[in-house]
Amino acid sequence: MTIIAVFNQKGGVGKTTTTANLAAAMARNGLTPLAIDLDPQAHLTAMSGLKPKVERTVYSFFQQHTPLSELVTQLPNQVNLIPSHMELAKVDMLLSQNRRDLRRLKKAMQLEMLSAAGTPVLIDCCPMLGVLSLSALIAADVVLVPVTAEYLAMNGALQLDQTLNGLTSKGLHRPRKVFINRYQRGQITSEHVATELTRRYGRDFCRTRVFESQSVMEGSGKNLDVFSYAPDSESAEDFSYLLDELVENRFIRTAC
Ligand SMILES: Nc1ncnc2c1ncn2[C@@H]1O[C@H](COP(=O)(O)OP(=O)(O)OP(=O)(O)O)[C@@H](O)[C@H]1O
Ligand SMILES: [Mg+2]
Repeated sequence: MTIIAVFNQKGGVGKTTTTANLAAAMARNGLTPLAIDLDPQAHLTAMSGLKPKVERTVYSFFQQHTPLSELVTQLPNQVNLIPSHMELAKVDMLLSQNRRDLRRLKKAMQLEMLSAAGTPVLIDCCPMLGVLSLSALIAADVVLVPVTAEYLAMNGALQLDQTLNGLTSKGLHRPRKVFINRYQRGQITSEHVATELTRRYGRDFCRTRVFESQSVMEGSGKNLDVFSYAPDSESAEDFSYLLDELVENRFIRTAC
């Protein structure tokens, strides 16, 4: 059972891109991943080419207690998706940050056995730390943190460290794995950020670097993951390596 929350409190660092492409990498390796779009911006949903009615989205789980399993849509690339809707923003305002509300997602996933053997779950978080993101962090077995090769994205990762330390003090330790996204070899900022992340995170920093890539951008514009859009691209290789590294680290406990 592996639930991965993809999170960084900094916006635009590649959380959605990572969720989409890592899930696609899993599907190509014979896993049947479930991706949950837990962001009211609903970018993962849009990137998947879906425009669901609000009652068919994760909003309905939080507001109407609809079972998560009833909200799953299978995408052409064999990734299962629970989509989002902009109405989800209300959940962050309406639900409190009490223990019961924050554990609802985790509990439902356990009860519905959504992450039973062979089904890794990826949760695409929004960049704010509210009920939604905290619910994802509590539900997660591991937190995957994309950091773009720029200084402000490192600050977002630092803020996340504080959040995770807070959870640890409540007996909710969540291991994290940080990786660099939009890396450009030889570019001074990219090299500085990579050096700093290595120093700061040591073994929690992935050796895999996801490079800045035209294929990633173009593919998302056509509602395609990089394996479907450019299967021979370096980006497809990057996301395959990222998956391999997570498997190697036993964050994904299914052989592939
Ligand atoms: N490796 C990459 N190469 C090129 N473009 C990338 C790469 N990763 C992400 N992008 C682009 O960066 C932009 C932001 O990415 P994305 O939406 O995945 O970030 P995010 O962290 O999910 O943002 P938000 O915080 O708003 O949810 C998108 O236009 C995406 O196509
Ligand atoms: Mg996003």
